[in-house]
Formats: sequence, C-alpha cells, structure tokens
Amino acid sequence: MDCKKLLKKLTLKEKVMQITQLIPRMFDTDDTGALTGPIASLNISEEDLYNTGSVLNVYGAQKSISLQNRYLERNKHKIPMIIMQDVIHGYKTIYPIQLGLGASFNQEMVKECSSMAAKESSVDGVHLTFAPMVDLVRDARWGRVMESTGEDPYLNCVMSKAQVEGYQGDLGKYKVAGCVKHIAAYGASESGLDYNTVDMSERTLREYYLPAYKAAVDAGVEMVMTSFNTVEGIPSVGNKWLVDDVLRKEWGFNGVVISDFNAVRELITHGVAKDGKQAALMSINATTDIEMATTEYLQNVEQLIKEGKLSEKQIDDAVLRVLELKDKLGLFENPHKDTDVELAKEIVLCKEHRDLARKMAEESAVLLKNNGILPFNKNVKSVAVIGPHANTGNINGFWSYSADPKNTTTVLQGLKNYLGEDRVKYAFGCSAVLTDTDQSQIDEAVNLAKSCDAVILCVGEVETDSGEANSKSNIELTDLQYKLVERVVEANPNTAVALFTGRPLAIVKLNEIAPAILNMWMPGTEGGPALTNLMFGEVSPSGRLSMTFPASTGQCPIYYNHYNTGRPAPNREITYGYCASYIDGPTYPLYPFGYGLTYSEFEYSPVKLSSANMTIDGSITASVTVKNVGKRTAKEVVQMYIRDVYASVVRPVKELKGYKKIELAPNESQTVEFTITKEQLEFYGRDLVKRAEAGTFYVFIGKDSDVSEYAEFELV
Ligand code: GLC
Repeated sequence: MDCKKLLKKLTLKEKVMQITQLIPRMFDTDDTGALTGPIASLNISEEDLYNTGSVLNVYGAQKSISLQNRYLERNKHKIPMIIMQDVIHGYKTIYPIQLGLGASFNQEMVKECSSMAAKESSVDGVHLTFAPMVDLVRDARWGRVMESTGEDPYLNCVMSKAQVEGYQGDLGKYKVAGCVKHIAAYGASESGLDYNTVDMSERTLREYYLPAYKAAVDAGVEMVMTSFNTVEGIPSVGNKWLVDDVLRKEWGFNGVVISDFNAVRELITHGVAKDGKQAALMSINATTDIEMATTEYLQNVEQLIKEGKLSEKQIDDAVLRVLELKDKLGLFENPHKDTDVELAKEIVLCKEHRDLARKMAEESAVLLKNNGILPFNKNVKSVAVIGPHANTGNINGFWSYSADPKNTTTVLQGLKNYLGEDRVKYAFGCSAVLTDTDQSQIDEAVNLAKSCDAVILCVGEVETDSGEANSKSNIELTDLQYKLVERVVEANPNTAVALFTGRPLAIVKLNEIAPAILNMWMPGTEGGPALTNLMFGEVSPSGRLSMTFPASTGQCPIYYNHYNTGRPAPNREITYGYCASYIDGPTYPLYPFGYGLTYSEFEYSPVKLSSANMTIDGSITASVTVKNVGKRTAKEVVQMYIRDVYASVVRPVKELKGYKKIELAPNESQTVEFTITKEQLEFYGRDLVKRAEAGTFYVFIGKDSDVSEYAEFELV
C-alpha cells in the first residue's frame, strides 16, 4: 500500500480517528442497529466511529471478523482497524506469569512460548499484542511484578528480546506485532502502590530501567506503550524528552507509540494539563501517536491547529506510522490477517501447546526448600492434595482473561492422571481470600493428611490479588492459611508445600514450618501436571528466582544489585550498631535473586581468568568447572556476576552479566566459560556518559547472587 498517497486522501478528522483507539463496546449496536454503546459519552459520531484506527480486546475470531467487516463496509477509504489485545503470557493456552518466565533463565523456551501465543491469538483475531511488559521491579508490594521478568536489567533484556522475536518473527503467518511496555520505569511506583509517583535520577533510569525497553526496540518491536507514571515530573504519555528525544531520536525508534488506557486524559488529573486540549497538545508534541480509550485528540486537534499550536504535519507523521504498521501487518491485502474460525478450533489449546505450557511451568518453578522429602516416591500408596489452589483452574494469573479457567488441568487432576484416581484424595482446607477467616474445613483436611502417606499442600495468593491495581501493604501469607499449614504439617511431616503466587511473599514462617516449598508462581493451563512431574521427580526443579524474596514486607524494595553504602550490615544477624541494619528484624532477604534448589548437588571450581589484566578494547575469559555431585540428573543455572570495586560513581555489589543453564548427569562435569568485554563493565557516569573505567573488578561465578568467591582482574 502506498501509505503516503493514502494519507493525502484523508480529511483531518479521518486522520485523527486513525490515531484514536476505542474499546469494542463502542461498536455495540442495539436491535434497531442504531449505535448505542457509550459512544455518546465520548461525544463522537457514527462516522467518526467507523474511522477509528484500532480497537482493543475483541474476543474471538468470529467477533474479530464480523467487527472488521462491519467496519470496512462503513469506512470510506477501506482502511482496516488493527485489533490489539493483552496477550501477556499466553492467549488461551496460558504459560507461567512473566516472573516465572524470568525465573526459567531459558530464553529459548520463552521465545517458543511467545511464538505459540502469537499463533493462538493470530488465528483467533488478534493482530498486535500489548507485550512484552519489561518494567524492572524491586518492590513486591506492587501487583504488576507478576507481569515482569524481574529485578535484573540483564535478564530483562534477554527476555525482552526473546519475546519480541517470538511474537513478531517476520510478521508473517501466525505472528503478531509486539508492543513493549510501559516506558518508563512503571515498576518503580513508590511504595509499590500502582499508578503512584516515580521519581529517580536520570542516571538510575538509564542504568537499570531503560535497557529492557531498548532491547525490545533493538529487536525490532513494532510498538511502544507509555506508562501511567511520571518521569522526572512529567507523565510518560506527555513526556517529550522520554518519547521523542530518547525513544525516537536517541534509540532510532520510528514505530508507533500508544498511550496507556485513558492516560492522555489523566494528564489533567496529574495536574500537568489544564484541560483535554492541553493534554492532547502535550501528548502529540511528545509524539505519542495513538490515544487509547479517550478522544481528547479528536475533540481538540482541529482547534490546536487553528491556533497554530500544532501542525497538521505532526498529525500526518503519527497517522503515517499507524498506516505503515497496518501495511506491515498486510491488513490492506487481508484485513483479517490470520484470523480463521475453523483453524482456531484446531490450534487453540492443542496438545502441542499444552505440552509446551507444561514444560515452561516445569522450567519456571523454583524449589525454595527441601529437607529431603522431595521428590516423592511414585509408588506412594496415597497422596492428600489440600488447599485453596489444589482444585481450581484459577492458577493462570491476572493477565489471562482471554483464557477459560475450565481448561486448566488442576493440581488434583494432574495428580490423578499420574497416580490414578484411587491414590489421590482431596480436601479444600481453607481459602486464600485475604479477608476469609473460615476455619471450618481445616479439621477435615488435617484428618485426610493423617490418613495419607504424602501430602501436597497448595497455598498462596488468589490469582487476582496481583496484577494491575492489586498493590499490597502486607506480603505475608494469610493467617488462615498458616493455621492450615501448621496443622497439616503437624499431622503429617511428609508434606510438601506448593506455593501459588504472583509476587515474592515474605514467608519466613512458612520456611520454618514446611519441610519443602516449591514455588509454582502462577503456572498456567498445565500447572497441575507440571507440579506433579516436579513433585515426583520426573523433572528436577531448575528455576531460579528472578526477584528477591524479602524476609518481611518492611524490607521492600529490596534487590541484590544494590550499592554497598558506607556501612553495610556486617552479617545476617540483627545488628545494633551504626550500620545499614534493622534493629527489629532481618536485613538480608529470605531468598536472594538467582536462588533455587534442584534434586541434585553441584560443585563449582574456583573462578579461573584467562588474564589478570584486561585492556579497554580487549577481553578476558572467566571459567569454572561445574560438577554434579548428587544422585540425579539436574539443571544448573551457572551465573556470572561482576563487581566494579571502585569508580567515579558508586557501583553495585554485584551485577549479573551472563548465565548458562546446563544439564549434568550424576558425576558429570562441564567447564563453563564467559567472555568479558568492556560492554559488561560499562556504566553511566555522573555526566550520563556510558563508560568503563580502569580499576579492579571482581568476577563471581556461582549458583545465585549470594555467591562470595571471586577472582579479580585489573582493567588497565
Ligand atoms: C491497562 C494496562 C496496560 C494494558 C492496557 C490495555 O491499563 O496498564 O498494560 O495493555 O490497559 O488493556
């Protein structure tokens, strides 16, 4: 399509509607066929409506086809809409939440899953997904940590690239356009309170929060979504420095930028826009192309151009980017892209997809504790499966509304499929609802636990207690669930706890009580079979924490790559003294970033460096030999961290700069090598110039971020 030529045919109003995105309810028609819906609230005409450039969250191939057809019948220029949706970690076959994807340290599998989600959603009517979300997170009180791959910029960059490649590929068959979000630093919302203020130095923004968005841009992501929060006092949607200067001019992104839901209008609420007109002016000047769910652009652009505050060229630039995206998606040739009602019935939730979702859930789970009771013996005579997450399909996570929980293979069903109906007994025990205090079913659960050889106790968070607008001021397990855990473990010490959660929880007490804890995150459609395979040793757990588990809510935000301070806490004990330590509780986290157990044991040789010195344009190799000294084949995530011991600005005590996930049989060894170049040593100085500075560096290679042995080299 010659988009420039098409652009010339459009009136100003038609142009502005191309950069307006509406919700599908706007197209609801009543019996008379007259448009009702809430379009009146947005003060737009039927003609405007059928010039809308895109729509979000249309469900199902049939609806997508009929909406697009009805739209094109009425659209004068036959310009198809882009149909967009939040396909965050699966479409109808759901795989683990993103914290789990990060914890897998398996970007190849994550890419495969993104590709699967693209295939399912594209045949069911989706053209573009609002994913990947790559906001770096450090505060488990924030509900949307579940949507992030975690606290480390390097890991987030790896997973960001993998997902963009998986979703988009060549934008051909069974692919969808990606949309990286939410630029920028939404995960740093103060106090973990969603939509709250974000305020940090540009140096911190560039050092930690921006890299993963740039990784998506460098991977060719087609769209970028701005965040609700402020960046240096200006909300992202209207922040010209962030969107135009950094994203477009510095990074070279010339794709479409979309606001978040209602965010243009919220500039008024933030207090940076007097009215809708100023909000529209700010956002368009920032080069935010599409306004999601509101019509400030439509209501105000004409007047802003008349007043000389905006040029029509600015509108043309935005509209051209949208038309070119439609062209890349092939929508002018085929407005339905891959949508196919019959094919969707075959592809969606097919066995291949379920198997992949199960493998991803197995790969993402993190074994937090094991006193030796795991793996259970598959010849066990009877297993009690107990708890609020034992017999429910609601283990998919907050962003799974395109899926039906009825399609989830539950923990109970997974165990029955594996052990047979007779050997598996179920009791509810209690609920995980925050306000629930009903203990009436705990006795029954305790009696069942007593009567069985082994117990799998499924507790944690309700799946909708994390995700958007689900911030918590207390990230402990509920008292009611602790009552269940205490009594069940007392009744049968052969009890393993399966944790279902959308965030790190402060589970010090659970860690004391439970003989074993397997963190499943929110594992998705095949969470039940995945848990079964992990609990019975068909698969050895291999996930490693993508986000620190605090020892108390009061520690939040807490993360491994922190600065040393001038008075670091000397040890894990509660220290009364002039140092960075709490006097009323632990200062160190319960489980650190990168932590996770397996069903075997690995030994590491000391780190070897190819040289004690490195020149700025040279490189050195760091290597270790890892040996499986246990009894089972297992995977190990060999992690390399670097510390810049002194520099012109303070540097973190450790930074993940490489990892390799390897599988070793008992007694098998493997030498793992990492090449270090200046890229891994660079940081932003006080002058915001990226550089590596001469000096001493420590190289750690180990099983998690608590690794202490290192080798050192000089950058000369
Ligand atoms: C929501 C979220 C964003 C999502 C969008 C569309 O408010 O912030 O991540 O993509 O609206 O559903």
